[in-house]
Amino acid sequence: SESGKIDCNVALIGFMGTGKTTISNALSRITGFKEVDVDQYIVEKEGMAIKDIFAENGEQYFRNLETQALRDLQEEKETIISCGGGAVLRDENVEILNTGSVIVQLKATPETVFERVKDHTHRPILNNDMSVRHITELMNQREPRYNSVADIQVNVDKGDRVETCYYILKEL
Ligand code: S3P
Repeated sequence: SESGKIDCNVALIGFMGTGKTTISNALSRITGFKEVDVDQYIVEKEGMAIKDIFAENGEQYFRNLETQALRDLQEEKETIISCGGGAVLRDENVEILNTGSVIVQLKATPETVFERVKDHTHRPILNNDMSVRHITELMNQREPRYNSVADIQVNVDKGDRVETCYYILKEL
């Protein structure tokens, strides 16, 4: 491994609907690493769905839970950590991830994301406007941040999960 970090965790980041959960599942099967989903961890700890946490307590409250979850999960070893799309927007969260994880960004066009999320209703950030235009706008805001924190970037528009996994493993 060029980075020398392959014995650490792999944190998957990127916009909603880029397939972080799918790639996490596949990478876990190929490598034998465990997998944890940060949103799922929060849902289990709080006993509430993400969209209900947003609705009842607001986004900042969710973001604080997310930071705590990332801290908890850095104790893991040889684990694929699938992060929510907003997880790296806070500097503190990036610092936490950088202590034990290689950060891998999944990239896709707004059109690919739209096709993947259009029938979903569990994402509060997209629920009031699930359009290519809104996805493009949000992605343009976030993409520079993803680009600057990622150790490895991989395009997933073609959607071949095995190819995506082997590309990531080669780059680790
Ligand atoms: C969010 C992405 C979601 C979830 C929450 C907020 C975001 O995760 O953490 O709804 O701000 O991009 P996914 O990227 O897994 O959809």
